[in-house]
Amino acid sequence: MAPTTWERKDLLGLEGLSASEIETILDLAASFKSAPPADDLKGRTVAFIFTEASTRTRSSCEMAAKRLGADVLSFSPIGSSLSKGETLLDTFLNLHAVGVTHFVVRHERSGVLEDLAPLLKASVINAGDGWHEHPTQALLDLLTLRDRWGGFKGRKIVVLGDIRHSRVARSNLFALKKLGAKVVFCGPTPLCPDDFSALGAVVEHDVEKALKGADAVNVLRLQIERMDQGFVPSLADYALSYQLTPARADLMKPEALVLHPGPINRGVEIASEVADGPRSVILEQVANGVLARMAVLSLCERGRSLA
Ligand code: CP
Repeated sequence: MAPTTWERKDLLGLEGLSASEIETILDLAASFKSAPPADDLKGRTVAFIFTEASTRTRSSCEMAAKRLGADVLSFSPIGSSLSKGETLLDTFLNLHAVGVTHFVVRHERSGVLEDLAPLLKASVINAGDGWHEHPTQALLDLLTLRDRWGGFKGRKIVVLGDIRHSRVARSNLFALKKLGAKVVFCGPTPLCPDDFSALGAVVEHDVEKALKGADAVNVLRLQIERMDQGFVPSLADYALSYQLTPARADLMKPEALVLHPGPINRGVEIASEVADGPRSVILEQVANGVLARMAVLSLCERGRSLA
């Protein structure tokens, strides 16, 4: 499947995309499931600049780039001249000078790519920036749900856990709302402030009420590394009040799905019986990550070549 137009060279977030652009990415990703390996990135070079840890995003982006025929440049911020004070912009410009055409970037600073990407001829794909957005994660979440449901209109999706620090929650909200779903954010008030309702989420602090009748729940871990104050009294206290247990999961519709972007902290935000149980699509999400990232790389290459 080849979409007729795509003009963006970068994917920095989903907030600014239209419903039809999101559908275009999902359609292309789905088409890769049955298609032979594509060569949309043959002769191109993708570099990964990750200043924060990653297992799923980095490995599936690398797999996606290779499946599209790209060369992959190994780059580690530790041991690079970033550690000597070189700016991120100079790093991009120098790596572009040696032939990099696409950057996949994870960075701890929210919004760090917004001013830099327009200065570059290369494509920039946000692999998670601070608390801001994680667009390819939300796309693979949507791809997984759409595989099962066909569409999103009238669906109720609960995002449960540490919403405050979650770029995944924001990207999911932006995309799911555009496609017609109801999104409920649930967690204790310090981790799920009421002002998220201004972005279009329904905020519900009572986990049982939130899960009742839901079509899916996307469970988020507590991002302890981003917490500089006592947002929860203890992990045990959090687990007692908000862990997705089998009994809580059963409050959803009988066919409801359980998602988690990973990494999972078993026994804290989710019980192992649920993470590994029949409702769980967690490993399907990971597999779909390769397809979603293939679609994003392919479309951004299209936009880059028009720029
Ligand atoms: N979901 C996600 O971003 O996982 P990683 O941190 O392992 O990439």
